[in-house]
Amino acid sequence: MTRDEALDSIKANVENANLVKHMLATEAIMRALAKRLGEDEEEWGLTGLLHDIDVELTEGDMDSHSKLGADLTRELGASDAMTHAILCHNEMHDIPRETKLDKALFCADPLTGLIIAAALVRPDKKLAGLEAKSVMKRFKEKSFAAGANREQISLCSQIGLELAEFIQLGLESMQGIAEDLGL
Ligand SMILES: [Fe+2]
Repeated sequence: MTRDEALDSIKANVENANLVKHMLATEAIMRALAKRLGEDEEEWGLTGLLHDIDVELTEGDMDSHSKLGADLTRELGASDAMTHAILCHNEMHDIPRETKLDKALFCADPLTGLIIAAALVRPDKKLAGLEAKSVMKRFKEKSFAAGANREQISLCSQIGLELAEFIQLGLESMQGIAEDLGL
C-alpha cells in the first residue's frame, strides 16, 4: 500500500476535516517514533494514518470501531502487524497490546489532542511557537483537554520513552506538518 492509496481511502470514508487532521497528526507522531526506535517508518506511519478510518462508518458503535478499520486496511494491503495495532487501539475489544507498534499507536493517539488543544489556546493558535514545557504543563492540568487520556499517553514508558521526550517528539513531529493541520 502506498501513502497515496491510504489517503484516497481516507477521502472516500472520512468527511470530517478534524478527524482527517487527527489521523495525519497520529501519522506524524508514529513516523517520528519509528525513527527514534529504529522501526519501519512507513509501516508505523501508515498505521497511524489509517487507525481511525472507520470512525464515521461505524457511527459511534464502539463494538465495531477498529474491527471494520482493521478489515478496511487489510483490504488495502496492510500487514498483520498493522491491522493488529489498529484492532487493539480500541480497548473495548480487550485485545492485549503485544508489539511495540500496538503500544506506540495506543499512546500516540491521545497525544495529538493534547497538543492541538495546547496550540489552540495560544493567542496565535499556532503550533510553531508552542514549547514542549507548555504542553507538559497542560498535561498536568487534569481539566485541560480532559478527553486526552493522560494515563494512556503515559504508556509511552512501555516503548521506552520518558514522558518529556515523548511530548517533545510528538510536538516536533506535528510542527513539521503544521500547514496540513491548519495550525
Ligand atoms: Fe485516534
